[in-house]
Amino acid sequence: MLRTHTCGELRIPDIDKTVKLSGWVQRSRDMGGMTFIDLRDRYGITQLVFNMETHSELCKQARKLGREYVIQVEGIVAERSNKNSKMPTGDIEITAEKIVVLNQSKLPPFTIEDDTDGGEELRMKYRYLDLRRNPLRKAMELRHKMAITTRNYLDKQGFFDIETPYLIKSTPEGARDFIVPSRMSSNQFYALPQSPQTFKQLLMVAGYDRYYQIVKCFRDEDLRADRQPEFTQIDCEMAFVEQDDILDMFEGLTRHLFKEVKGVDVDQFPRMEYSDAMKYYGSDKPDIRFDMRFVELNDLAQNKGFAIFDQAELVVGINAVGLADYSRKQLDQLTDFVRKPQIGAKGLVYIKYDADGSFKSSVDKFYNTEDLQTIANRFEAKPGDLILILSGETDKVRKQLGNLRLEMGNRLELRNPNIFAPLWVVDFPLLEWDEENSRFHAMHHPFTSPKQEDIALLESDPAKVRANAYDLVINGVEIGGGSIRIHNRELQKLMFKHLGFTDEEAQAQFGFLMDAFEYGAPPHGGVAFGFDRITSLFGGSDSIRDYIAFPKNNSGRDVMIDTPSQVSQVQLDELMLNIVKFKK
Ligand code: AMO
Repeated sequence: MLRTHTCGELRIPDIDKTVKLSGWVQRSRDMGGMTFIDLRDRYGITQLVFNMETHSELCKQARKLGREYVIQVEGIVAERSNKNSKMPTGDIEITAEKIVVLNQSKLPPFTIEDDTDGGEELRMKYRYLDLRRNPLRKAMELRHKMAITTRNYLDKQGFFDIETPYLIKSTPEGARDFIVPSRMSSNQFYALPQSPQTFKQLLMVAGYDRYYQIVKCFRDEDLRADRQPEFTQIDCEMAFVEQDDILDMFEGLTRHLFKEVKGVDVDQFPRMEYSDAMKYYGSDKPDIRFDMRFVELNDLAQNKGFAIFDQAELVVGINAVGLADYSRKQLDQLTDFVRKPQIGAKGLVYIKYDADGSFKSSVDKFYNTEDLQTIANRFEAKPGDLILILSGETDKVRKQLGNLRLEMGNRLELRNPNIFAPLWVVDFPLLEWDEENSRFHAMHHPFTSPKQEDIALLESDPAKVRANAYDLVINGVEIGGGSIRIHNRELQKLMFKHLGFTDEEAQAQFGFLMDAFEYGAPPHGGVAFGFDRITSLFGGSDSIRDYIAFPKNNSGRDVMIDTPSQVSQVQLDELMLNIVKFKK
């Protein structure tokens, strides 16, 4: 037996027990006649003590152990004279009697401590060392807990966990596919799934009316803190349901996760129409931990001689409560913020409603005190508040103000990661105009059902058609999305037509699904949660990378195994990809 206990387990009641522990040397300290070693494993750290007087050979052996050596120690549990209340095992130590070096270690390239000295790239290259650190170990534990809690919940609700293939035909979810060449069918390719969308729908046709899978998805898209080329979804589908059934079920799952994993009770999730999310928060994923809703001002701000407002499609603002004492410099910083190319506003108008009840604004020339008071009233502003106004094209200005709202939320410390504000955003548009290609594409995916009452608009005003589509948003992060699906061949065909497919193209790409709809497809719908995202949100981080054991870097590379990489000419020849010749 290599160990009788783990390094996180022993306490006062274990005193005098003879134990064996195995683990890694975290650090060692020589203090005159004594040597202390912190021994670490996944469960914690236990202090070992070696006494020079009574066990001089053993003590000398201990002094030779380097950091991250793997050792086994046998000894007796003793009460510490110098207790450490910060460590769960801090009341005891092991008086060592024997050590065996199970393996040596080179000096690690960075310290295996909570606050390490290693840079990001270095830690990615030695990910197996980084994973030894406490913050990552905790992240992996959280991920495991989220997965097992999800499985237990969905199992209790009667969901089957069914695997779907990874070598498939391309599914259009808006990103590029990763392509896998086929050896047996030359010049033909599989695609890795962007999601199991079509398969889960086929499972509904097959009668498995509650399906789920915690499943890898692959998307060749530009990477960000919350995006990886391979990521994991909690993917679900249900038959014989309407939108409310799905929202209720997965609100239930989310609340169960909050309760079980974080011990947090969350209220019923509000539901907000997409059009309101855009109108009041300038985003389809509003952070509603704080209010600061948009207030539209066209009727009050236009026709007063201020040309920029007069020419704008929309004049809209927010009230930054209590910030009227912002200095010139701070206001300039805000102007610079909205002018950043990523935000793209031309300028920012402010109205300071000073504590003494007077107004100061950047547009005093055009608005008298009465005008400013009327504007302030619409914001329900109080003396001491700062009103910030942008203007321009409706869609653009809303997005710009949405960014400014989040910035003000940060400045006012209204975005506490320990507070969770979930909501459902519902009634998304079915189609989105794609400027670049001058055509519509499906906002969610082409299998999403339009709202019955809007179907007629498909011909006359496609942009106005609303979908039975919804997103789960928590703290401004899109955690999941789904929809009620089309389950009728004719409607699916019509949808493809509006997306610019000819009948032949639609049949070639999605004939299998439309054919299946002719064999008794039940009404169905579903949702997929970004598992990495919900885990990192629970962990209090914006970056999903820390919650993935072996993530890719920002250029999509795994720097540890060094891939993407070249393959041999023999492999390429077998795949008939001999057009690619590597430069020597
Ligand atoms: P959607 O494309 O909205 O829906 O994806 C569902 C959720 O997956 C997460 N997600 C990602 N997480 C990390 N890295 C990525 N590159 C990435 N892309 C998406 C997000 C997102 O909300 N088949 C549909 C679901 C359905 O209709 O049932 C789908 O995949 O949290």
